[in-house]
Amino acid sequence: MKRSVFLLSILVFCSYSTIAQIIPVITRQNALVFQVSQNKDVQMIYLGEKLANQDEYVQIPGLYNQSGDYTGLYNSAYTSSGTRNLLEPAISVTHSDGNNSLDLEYVSHDVEKISDDISLLKITLKDRVYPFQVTMFIKSYFAEDVIEQWTEISHQEKKGVILRKYASANLSLKSNAFYLTQYHGDWAKEMRPEESKLTHGIKTLDSKLGTRANLFQPSFFMISMGKPATEDEGEVLYGMLEWSGNFKIDMELDPQDNLRIIAGINNYASEYSLAANQNFKTPAFLYVLSKNGKGEASRKIQTWARDHKLLDGKGNRLTLLNNWEATGFGFNEQKLFAILKDTKKLGVDLFLLDDGWFGNKYPRNSDNAGLGDWQANREKLPTGVASLVKEASATGVKFGIWVEPEMVNPASNLYHQHPDWVIKQPNRGEYYFRNQLVLDLSNPKVQDFVFGVVDGLFTENPDLAYIKWDCNAVIYNAYSAHLQNKSHLYVDYVNGLYNVLKRLRDKHPTVPMMLCSGGGGRVDYAALQYFTEFWPSDNTDPLERVFIQWEYSYFFPSMSMSCHVTDWGRQPLKYKVDVAMMGKMGFDIVVDRLSENDLKFCQQAVGTYNQLKDIIWHGDQYRLVDPKSNDFASLMYVDSLKQKAVIFNYLVNNRYDVRSVCPVKMKGLNPDRKYRVQEVNLYPGTQSALDSQKVLSGDFLMRVGYNPRVDGSRQSVVLLIEEE
Ligand code: GLA
Repeated sequence: MKRSVFLLSILVFCSYSTIAQIIPVITRQNALVFQVSQNKDVQMIYLGEKLANQDEYVQIPGLYNQSGDYTGLYNSAYTSSGTRNLLEPAISVTHSDGNNSLDLEYVSHDVEKISDDISLLKITLKDRVYPFQVTMFIKSYFAEDVIEQWTEISHQEKKGVILRKYASANLSLKSNAFYLTQYHGDWAKEMRPEESKLTHGIKTLDSKLGTRANLFQPSFFMISMGKPATEDEGEVLYGMLEWSGNFKIDMELDPQDNLRIIAGINNYASEYSLAANQNFKTPAFLYVLSKNGKGEASRKIQTWARDHKLLDGKGNRLTLLNNWEATGFGFNEQKLFAILKDTKKLGVDLFLLDDGWFGNKYPRNSDNAGLGDWQANREKLPTGVASLVKEASATGVKFGIWVEPEMVNPASNLYHQHPDWVIKQPNRGEYYFRNQLVLDLSNPKVQDFVFGVVDGLFTENPDLAYIKWDCNAVIYNAYSAHLQNKSHLYVDYVNGLYNVLKRLRDKHPTVPMMLCSGGGGRVDYAALQYFTEFWPSDNTDPLERVFIQWEYSYFFPSMSMSCHVTDWGRQPLKYKVDVAMMGKMGFDIVVDRLSENDLKFCQQAVGTYNQLKDIIWHGDQYRLVDPKSNDFASLMYVDSLKQKAVIFNYLVNNRYDVRSVCPVKMKGLNPDRKYRVQEVNLYPGTQSALDSQKVLSGDFLMRVGYNPRVDGSRQSVVLLIEEE
């Protein structure tokens, strides 16, 4: 990688007679612009469409006739506290002499060109009095307009400095109104959107759950500027923190009516002591801006994820049969051997053995025992996991396994052997989430143990092809017997987890792993560097999944979303399969209880999915009809050459005579080409209500549209669009 460092700055005399140094970050469509004021404050003056003339950015601040700023810091690029500041800070510290003040000034900046697409701007700041520095990192991805921003904090004081707040990024946006879309939820109720107009003061999105941090709300959000953005219209910023623990996103509509976004690790109970010359790195805050609505923003983020972040984002995924919904904890070797045959019969790639395969003194026959004791249960699996892996390959399918290695049940050998490895208060009673406690991953010995659990499975079973990594509990009674600084636990836990995942990936770089957290309690892009996919929700009712998967799709590509067909929900099997197809499809059903036609349908559907999956996983996604405001949902994927597309349509309202009344306008096709539209994935013995001989132009399909004829008798319809 060629590293060329150069100074990117423009010295200009502004109309209001101060000298400003401008530091622009330019991407394909946008510009993020910083300014160094005369007294060396670094301010964010612009995030918007890029200008034709770079030397005009300096004119921007002078065009706002807003009320005064008593501090000179309202639009600070990284607001320090304890001196002039009056608003929410990005950083707050106690120096080694007990002083709480900080006033950061510009020192220097440079730009490293990492590749044709990626640049890294570093802006170095230092306190005006103390030997204390912050370096801001702004990593820009030109093609996708995505920015990742974080900081590194260090000092050379005589003793330690306490970091009381240490945000990753501090944005300042200008508009006459800001609309926040946020998500809330709980188990089986993930990703419920809410939109509201931001008013003055601070709106906070946060988590204090430690692990499973997204259970009540994730860090992902959208800010529409001026008016609520729609799918194809409006200016909208997406943001999210790349961090799998406590987060805090403060959105402060300031006295000048600008929006300050201060995003980072939650400083709740997390003061961090930093020794001299130690470097504290904050996680990346990820954001993308679109002028053309939510759809474009999501395509940018999905493309970025596949190209730069998600593990194996350009590769393939495995279809699978899972046994959790089908057997729960109640299985044995014979039953599993039979399910392996069913896996083959169904035609999917892999069998995934779920919870319940381990623990002997404390057998894992329910969720109240066994976590931590990762030896195969001798009664259920007398010849161990190895013979299952062997049997799987003899049957012609791959084999994967469930683990929850960060957790322990009090009813386990591990708990009794290593009570000091468990997060709990030494002098208080225990409090459980799903009868379990969290292991202290801030402790390197625990990291070694967790690494060893998963690495051991791979070492003993070199053909192991898939891991489902679960995390079913939050952190109560946050206390580490290991850490000297008790308030480091929430931060060191997450870094300990990443340390384990990194070690695993160094040794086993490509084995697919699913990130699960009792459903969708954990997904974020720091974790997805190590995982190929995530489990959006334990709620697999397909009607619910239409909504849940729809909302996740704004932030994550479909290939990263595991979607299984189960017995949840009252819809026809075809509906369930069609919904699972819009992501990474799997099954969790009792195959030998399927009727002849149901089995035939599933087998054919696996074949159909194999034909379509490349478009679904790697194509551009367009949301055509929103289930929140219509009787049906319609979602489209188009391949990069615009030769093939798939549209999934699902009825979401069961009232009398609801149907797709009007044609659905397609998106992303080439207007000048001709396309044949045909219905695929039909249930055996049914005829399509559509004329598969029709060939229409892209122009027609995008301007007038096409009616999938969704109604009570055709509740889900999958269309394949192919260039003639
Ligand atoms: C969590 C997961 C489920 C299943 C169970 C097993 O709830 O989300 O998919 O694996 O654990 O206990």
